[in-house]
Amino acid sequence: MIGNFCYHNPTRLHFGEDAIGSLRSELAQYGPTVMLCYGGGSIKRNGIYDEVTAVLREAGKTVVEDGGVMPNPTLEKLQEGARMARENQVDLILAVGGGSTIDYAKGVSCSAWCEEDVWEKYYVRQEEASCRVVPVGCILTMVGTGSEMNGGSVITNPACGMKIGKVFGPYAFPRFAILNPRYTFTVPRRQMVAGFFDIMSHIMEQYFSGTDDNTSDYLSEALMRSLINSSRTAIRKPDDYEARSNIMWTATWALNTLIGMGKTQDWEVHMIGQAVGAHTDATHGMTLSAVSMAYYRHILPYGVAKFARFAENVWGIARGERSLQEQALEGLKALEAWMREIGVSMSIGELGATEDMLPAIADSTFLLSGGYKTLSRDEVIAILHESL
Ligand code: NZQ
Ligand code: ZN
Repeated sequence: MIGNFCYHNPTRLHFGEDAIGSLRSELAQYGPTVMLCYGGGSIKRNGIYDEVTAVLREAGKTVVEDGGVMPNPTLEKLQEGARMARENQVDLILAVGGGSTIDYAKGVSCSAWCEEDVWEKYYVRQEEASCRVVPVGCILTMVGTGSEMNGGSVITNPACGMKIGKVFGPYAFPRFAILNPRYTFTVPRRQMVAGFFDIMSHIMEQYFSGTDDNTSDYLSEALMRSLINSSRTAIRKPDDYEARSNIMWTATWALNTLIGMGKTQDWEVHMIGQAVGAHTDATHGMTLSAVSMAYYRHILPYGVAKFARFAENVWGIARGERSLQEQALEGLKALEAWMREIGVSMSIGELGATEDMLPAIADSTFLLSGGYKTLSRDEVIAILHESL
């Protein structure tokens, strides 16, 4: 049975090769001062910066530049950005980049006018913003997180070894998102495949729960099949527009809240992956891939029927003579084979984690319910150990 929910997604999304053409009309809806957020400089090398600043100039905007948003943005950077947004009284924050830049922009938008300790309020206590929120718009350059159409803002606080996601309400979703698949062609291969796995993980986090017949699960299966198909093309030919555009659109639907409607979810792979990220600063998608196989093997006995359905409907593995358990395991084997095929990290050791770090990583892992098994700290340690 589908649970009770309210669905509202306020992001206006412009998709395709000419999507940037909509920026001018979007900008016209906001005041004169725009804070332009971007990462470490990829947009300067691939020409997106020039294209965007030309439109800002033509629109007569005063631009406050805020570059250097790092992958896995830190609390310190967020606090700096919030100060800058407030001092300049910015009317719009325009994020140009991947999930890190867009997550950061949302954090800044809710922090600029906040009088409280934003780490404690938003990330630790998970409270909603009660101050003025600066509108955010985004231009996506790297596919994976879904940040372009959701309220997620994941921030790392190295001082306490925590990486925490706050999912703000619709008030903090990007007001508009510009998605041109061509902008993603310059993403390095390792980042590209990390993004592919991040998408897969978002879908699986919402899919592996419940025993009911739920429309969301059918949508998830379709998205996973499309991703697997297009990922294979993109690996062979990274500039295949059809494949990259399918993947871009799949990523948005994987985490714009639709496929989670009416379902319980624990997001435990992300909880473990984020803890690994907090201690290693590794690429987000790789932290997920490195712990996924050990995690899913661990929880399979608690949700065996769903894992068998996954084998059948996503990987085309029919039951045949197999037991339900055997069919379920075949599905996980197919997942693992695909992960190796696209080339994601299969070990947290590769990402810089060492055995002596495991207790601290486990301490940074939130143990949530809503999936097939609520883990204990010992189980997290065992999964991390198996993932080394
Ligand atoms: O910083 P620049 O120089 O731009 O380079 C970036 C960065 O090094 C590069 N890149 C991006 N677009 C490019 C490009 N390089 C060449 N050409 C382009 N077109 O890619 C690198 C990674 O970028 P980043 O934004 O860090 O990647 P991603 O989109 O994977 O974002 C990761 C962050 O998002 C959070 C993660 O935890 C992590 O902090 N997440 C956000 C979520 C959300 N909002 O809902 C959910 C996710 O599960 C995730 O937790
Ligand atoms: Zn993710």
